[in-house]
Amino acid sequence: MITREDNDRLTRVEGDAPLGRMLGENYWIPFARCEGLEAGAPPQRIRLLGKSLVAFRGEDGRVGIVDEHCPHRRVSLSLARVEGCSLRCIYHGWRIDASGAVVEVPSEGERSAGFAARVRTNRYQAREAGGLVWAFLGQGEAPVLPALPFMSVPAESRWWSRMIVKCNWLQGFEGALDSVHLNWLHQGWNDPDRTKGHEALRIASPRYEIDVTDYGLRTAAIRDLGADGVHFRVAEFVAPFYALSASRQPAVPTDCSVFISVPMDDENHMLFFGFWDEVGPLQDVSAFFSEDLNRDDMFSDADTTLPGWGQDRGAMSQGHFSGFTKSVLHEDLGVQMSMGPIVDRSLEHVCGTDLAIVQTRRYLLDMIRDFEAGRPVDRGLDAYRARRAVPFSCVATPGVDWRQDGMRKPVAA
Ligand code: FES
Ligand SMILES: [Fe+2]
Repeated sequence: MITREDNDRLTRVEGDAPLGRMLGENYWIPFARCEGLEAGAPPQRIRLLGKSLVAFRGEDGRVGIVDEHCPHRRVSLSLARVEGCSLRCIYHGWRIDASGAVVEVPSEGERSAGFAARVRTNRYQAREAGGLVWAFLGQGEAPVLPALPFMSVPAESRWWSRMIVKCNWLQGFEGALDSVHLNWLHQGWNDPDRTKGHEALRIASPRYEIDVTDYGLRTAAIRDLGADGVHFRVAEFVAPFYALSASRQPAVPTDCSVFISVPMDDENHMLFFGFWDEVGPLQDVSAFFSEDLNRDDMFSDADTTLPGWGQDRGAMSQGHFSGFTKSVLHEDLGVQMSMGPIVDRSLEHVCGTDLAIVQTRRYLLDMIRDFEAGRPVDRGLDAYRARRAVPFSCVATPGVDWRQDGMRKPVAA
């Protein structure tokens, strides 16, 4: 049972909210696919942790992140021109470079450089890695980027999509930790081959075993398949907002998937959903995501504003289970938005199969408590620990422990 107070602590990121401060001061936060931010293209408005920002790529390829509003008289720099490696505000022509510094104030004539140098602005760092563009919103020294397994694979071995979801980040994140809903909500997208010969997998409810680790939680959903053995789906929660799973295994033996649920503000989040394969090129994902979906903005306004969040009752009467027919993620979007902008968790009735969610909430509350008490936040996610965070799904003989080393999928050298 979550109190309203704890619910606020887990969900709110705006202003002085401790979660927002903890994330901003300690973690790199992804906000775009590298390919979604083209040199010279219009600046993009980005909301992260309640801050309004603008991101752009200059002609030298560098990414700049600046406050959305011009330091002069607050016009949105999403209207700005990209000139060379800087933004030029269209109102009075001030120029701001990729570091966020004002470098030209044309109306000051000869005094322009001196005047510009005295204008104080917030500075944000940007990095690119793993096919994503990352921001560090803290003012101190930036941490290292997380050495998660998808960060080091070549471009042909990963696939990313991004979408804005109009509800709080934790609603999305908890969906990524919830193994049971795959059998219900997503049953229309389940690949029959994936469970061929294991029909019980489709209907058997799992029991959970969960290990607390130094980076988050390892959660094993265990389903008894009778004479066929036992099925393990081991997913990883890596603090603060990563969920790694193996949704296409064992049919695609080394394929893994990742959810990154980035809080934009209290009532919106940005989901990065991706696949990666550490052993070879990624197998086709078109069975789940048609080519005509916009991979930088997967949900259209129509998806989020239609009555019923876009559910198609006609499709349901034709046999579709959920009525969300555009993609598997549209099903998640529908149910998450239907809870309201910030679900009141004090009204829930969680059950045994919600254990991974309950434990993750506890883990996050402990992190926030430590942060508020001034204890150092472990921002490392360093290579050794993150390397261990490899999800898998497999069928084993009864009695085998999912924790033993040989159970994990091979990792390329
Ligand atoms: S408001 Fe941007 S230059 Fe004046
Ligand atoms: Fe889902």
